[in-house]
Amino acid sequence: MRRVTLMQYLIEQERQKDWINADLRLLIEVVSRACKAISIAIGKGELAGMLGGAGSENVQGEAQKKLDVISNEILLEANEWGGHLAAMASEEMDHPHQIPHRFPRGEYLLLFDPLDGSSNIDVNISVGTIFSVLRCPEGVTRPDDNAFLQPGASQVCAGYAVYGPSTLLVLTLGHGVACFTLDRETGSFILTQTDMRIPEDTGEFAINASNMRFWEPPVKRYIDELLAGKTGPRGRDFNMRWVASMVADVHRILTRGGIFLYPRDTKDPAKAGKLRLMYEANPMAFIVEQAGGAATNGRERILDLRPTGLHQRVAVILGSKNEVERVSGYHAA
Ligand code: AHG
Ligand code: MN
Ligand code: MN
Repeated sequence: MRRVTLMQYLIEQERQKDWINADLRLLIEVVSRACKAISIAIGKGELAGMLGGAGSENVQGEAQKKLDVISNEILLEANEWGGHLAAMASEEMDHPHQIPHRFPRGEYLLLFDPLDGSSNIDVNISVGTIFSVLRCPEGVTRPDDNAFLQPGASQVCAGYAVYGPSTLLVLTLGHGVACFTLDRETGSFILTQTDMRIPEDTGEFAINASNMRFWEPPVKRYIDELLAGKTGPRGRDFNMRWVASMVADVHRILTRGGIFLYPRDTKDPAKAGKLRLMYEANPMAFIVEQAGGAATNGRERILDLRPTGLHQRVAVILGSKNEVERVSGYHAA
């Protein structure tokens, strides 16, 4: 089989299909290079003093790991000089990062969760990076929070890297989903899967069941029915997995199907969910839909939500279409 590198793949998308332009191609290449650098840092782990807390908190009051901060820095530095971006926003920064005046500015906005699943870093379980690309609104020269508050349906590209046994990059340009595997010897991402598809039906679910007593009735009903198994209303047994790294859980679903839920709960009524709309829910919803799955907050399609804050949280239910639709149905009932 011909080995196709990420760069070749992108050039082909640009030349033959006109799905991307040179700036977007550069953007994706630069992000992939940053992910490679993050992968190397993660791989060194304790040998390079990479593990443990940074002793700081992010805008959401979460304790930052050293690797949260390092990954954020790697993405900022890699992306600020290329001329492809108007600004960047990150889960780990209060407000958008402006492109320094000494560099040219481009038409895209980049958003990222630099390190997803960072509570897993110290126990050597898969983590990842999630990113989303929007167009900078016309006439905006210094993009503030508002410039980024566009519905997920406006994304031009989204992807994630999983730092697991292999480092993978999963990408959508709005025309299906492709997966690349990092060849550590040549340093290239190699195309290993095109047109990833999520089976419409599944026997596997992912949810943090320790929150069960805080769930709203539709989610409680759905999970109760799955747990009841063969003798319950579903008439079959279901299996459960929860990595607690969204990237790893979503990647499993893209590979063999499943449903992932991080629903709204009453533990902290001020929060509409745990996951972040702009850095986690939107890019993952875009990828999942492009692979034939569905993504909702229970009541509305994630990609149709009108964002109100850069760090806004949202309930997320995504994966195999028929199961996601069933949960939506329970919310509507
Ligand atoms: P992050 O490390 O970027 O803050 O994200 C962690 C998220 C997500 O990756 C995962 O699905 C979820 O939090 C895990 O939550 P619990 O600790 O409640 O299981
Ligand atoms: Mn995350
Ligand atoms: Mn994170």
